Amino acid sequence: MARHLITSAIPYINGIKHLGNLVGSQLPADLYARYLRGRGHEVLFLCATDEHGTPAELAAAKAGKPVADYCAEMWEVQDKLSQGFRLSFDHFGRSSSEQNRKLTQHFAGKLFEAGLIEEVTEKQVYSNADGRFLPDRYIEGTCPNCGFESARGDQCDNCTKQLDPVDLINPHSTISGSTDLEMRETKHLYLRQSQMKDRLEEWIDTRQGWPVLTTSIAKKWLNDGDGLQDRGITRDLDWGVPVQRGDAPWPGMEGKVFYVWFDAPIEYIACGAEWVEAGKGDDWERWWRTDKGAEDVRYTQFMGKDNVPFHTLSFPVTILGSGEPWKLVDYIKSFNYLNYDGGQFSTSRGRGVFMDQALDILPADYWRWWLLSHAPESSDAEFTWENFQANVNKDLADVLGNFVSRVTKFCRSKFGEEVPEAGSYGPDETALIDTLTTRIRAYEAHMEAIEVRKSATELRAIWVAGNEYLQTAAPWSTFKEDPDRAAMQIRLALNLIRLYAVLSAPFIPDASAAMLQAMQTEDCHWPDDVHTALESLEPGHAFTVPDVLFAKITDNQREEWAARFAGTRT
Ligand code: MF3
Ligand code: ZN
Repeated sequence: MARHLITSAIPYINGIKHLGNLVGSQLPADLYARYLRGRGHEVLFLCATDEHGTPAELAAAKAGKPVADYCAEMWEVQDKLSQGFRLSFDHFGRSSSEQNRKLTQHFAGKLFEAGLIEEVTEKQVYSNADGRFLPDRYIEGTCPNCGFESARGDQCDNCTKQLDPVDLINPHSTISGSTDLEMRETKHLYLRQSQMKDRLEEWIDTRQGWPVLTTSIAKKWLNDGDGLQDRGITRDLDWGVPVQRGDAPWPGMEGKVFYVWFDAPIEYIACGAEWVEAGKGDDWERWWRTDKGAEDVRYTQFMGKDNVPFHTLSFPVTILGSGEPWKLVDYIKSFNYLNYDGGQFSTSRGRGVFMDQALDILPADYWRWWLLSHAPESSDAEFTWENFQANVNKDLADVLGNFVSRVTKFCRSKFGEEVPEAGSYGPDETALIDTLTTRIRAYEAHMEAIEVRKSATELRAIWVAGNEYLQTAAPWSTFKEDPDRAAMQIRLALNLIRLYAVLSAPFIPDASAAMLQAMQTEDCHWPDDVHTALESLEPGHAFTVPDVLFAKITDNQREEWAARFAGTRT
């Protein structure tokens, strides 16, 4: 039994996330958290909303609401959708929390004391028409790196390069559209990341077995000299964490706030404090401070590939630079992109299926299964309605759902609604137990390595093995000549339903709960020994026949949904 800290990249507050966002961080993080809990480990799984900066301000302005109200409302919406998708966060926090304000100011103070923050007077883009500076997303133009025309001031969404608003070609204000821009002097804080290059490089080089996607991105940023340029960590904005050194004011920085990418990762830690404040735990430091017990915590982060530079370079600079014993990440699992039907999912263009829409048409398990079994791990992946229909119908309805339904219904008709007693195992059963043992051990290995697709493949094979056994054993034929043998076969099959519920819970928690409920058991023990696990439901144990676990997606539904989601969301 170990202790696992798990965080998912915290989603921006502005708007409802699409399925591509979901599969790139929160959903696989939930899979891993559920698996580890299932194995009896102690898990703290944290997520939050990323509320500061220009994305929130712009969205609030568009909605005609004060930004604080807008964020509070959107937090409720995202919280409800997280629950809808059964994301089992121990706490879903907010980067605008009091805890994060304090901690962000604390880190800034420590970094300043360590000589890692520099005050720079520089020229920033000022819009005469808007009467203000235009940081980050308040300005758009052509990316100097790839030529993409709607690159934002802080990052190009096309090539993911981190930008400075002054680098943009043909810039304009996203508030007024004005191109009447000038450069004006203003004072800002810079984090001297360049000073930390050697320490960071050493840290990254000593990370054993990180995914190639993670280290290659980190190395690229490190060696381009690009990711490790000193970085502005303050902005001329109203909404954000006010610039302070710990509790003390910061002379000359009045009215400014920290850059959203400075305070957002700190929310991972602050979220632990919020979790305690909410009465859900009593000690967050034992997860986050290596001087207070966190040295034996394993910390895993989940994120999309565009987030990797911030988690391999910027946030570690904050942590290492503070000189304090904060827990650093042990393993970063990053994802490529999921595309939607021949193009990209896009929040700004409303393209694809969004979390609320998905739950309107089907329960969470359908989506969880398809998304996780197609997680964009080694390359980008694509959602198509044909593929979704085919996979759901085959894996969930034909293989798993059908198994549960056949076994329970057959037993009810021949032996009644309780586990039959007679008969003992023969060679077919021994062979099945061998197969399951091999496959379950492989499943565990893939889960522990966070190989999401491979885990799904193995789980599917475990379901298939049960179906094949049932097909060969054919208790409906056996029953005629040898009812005792049929009783044994069905006793095993009923126990397999419980076993499947336990193994499948990380992927499809609702179906898993329904299966356990039908088997009228709360025995969720992991099958360390398959033979023993298949004796959990004893002869005479009562069960019920569950409702259909997974309905098939019809061609009509598929066509209707494909048409409904072909356009853009308004
Ligand atoms: N909101 C960012 C995004 O969706 C992720 C922030 S992760 C954190 O891309 F590290 F900053 F917290
Ligand atoms: Zn670009």
